[in-house]
Amino acid sequence: MSEPETTTGSRRVSTDTGSRALPSEKTITASHGEVLVSARGLQKSFGDRHILKNVDFDMLVGDITVIIGKSGSGKSTLLRALAGLTDPDAGRILFDGKIVFEGEDRTEDWEDVESHVGMVFQSYTLWPHMDVLANLTLAPRKRLKLSVAEVNARAEVALAEVGMAHHIRSRPAQLSGGERQRVAIARALMMRPKLLLCDEITSALDPPVAAEVLEVLRRLKEEEGIAVALVTHDMAFASKAADRVVFFHEGEIAVNATPDEAFNRSTNPELKKFVDAVRF
Ligand SMILES: Nc1ncnc2c1ncn2[C@@H]1O[C@H](COP(=O)(O)OP(=O)(O)OP(=O)(O)O)[C@@H](O)[C@H]1O
Ligand SMILES: [Mg+2]
Repeated sequence: MSEPETTTGSRRVSTDTGSRALPSEKTITASHGEVLVSARGLQKSFGDRHILKNVDFDMLVGDITVIIGKSGSGKSTLLRALAGLTDPDAGRILFDGKIVFEGEDRTEDWEDVESHVGMVFQSYTLWPHMDVLANLTLAPRKRLKLSVAEVNARAEVALAEVGMAHHIRSRPAQLSGGERQRVAIARALMMRPKLLLCDEITSALDPPVAAEVLEVLRRLKEEEGIAVALVTHDMAFASKAADRVVFFHEGEIAVNATPDEAFNRSTNPELKKFVDAVRF
């Protein structure tokens, strides 16, 4: 079995004690309502298929940006590019005003910010043979070289953030889908992200459980001042969750609007067709 996918590949050694509230970092200065991440002219092809054509957008601290669009339109590719899991072929990514990707390469500044980017996937990607605590602490122990006491303290804080402190010794098989997904969010929080990228994290969950996960994200963005990007096919969830809605069409951002504008007042024919097709 391969190791669950994670974006926490920082080579930076943290000196944090692990005891503070999650996530806070001196190196990121953008505050609520300010731009945290910008993409400019991002392009990405796979072979001769041009997937990201010219992607431009900003994400603000304290916003949930919901990304919608047809299957295969490039939503996951965009999240993976923001997470550093894939490199675009051209364009620029700025994080807190610093250029972290330019042309075809990550810049030196990427090393400072990559540990502030967390990603959560549709499948929970938890180790089945380890308890929740071990699932949370494995990567930070290795990558940040923190002590057992430090990572355990972080795990307790992260689990409390998602309302799962009482499950610290449970195994994934003993948890419901929503609980597992909350543990997966807690695992991403271990690195104290300022940007949390969520790729269809509620698509395997019942609506009430999806609503609980949404509540966790809302509290995080409000209380911890993070920016969240959320890819979903669930338009009811999208309209409830979003501060901004980004509609992806043929590799470009066709609409970037408030949920009300996007779902009720957009004149973009492709978005109207898309929303009608999946009408909630
Ligand atoms: N590593 C890869 N190699 C080749 N093609 C890829 C790769 N990753 C993605 N693609 C292709 O790029 C296109 C966009 O994929 P992506 O996963 O970004 O779509 P998506 O919008 O997330 O779709 P879905 O809603 O189905 O998850 C798809 O046609 C996919 O097959
Ligand atoms: Mg996808």
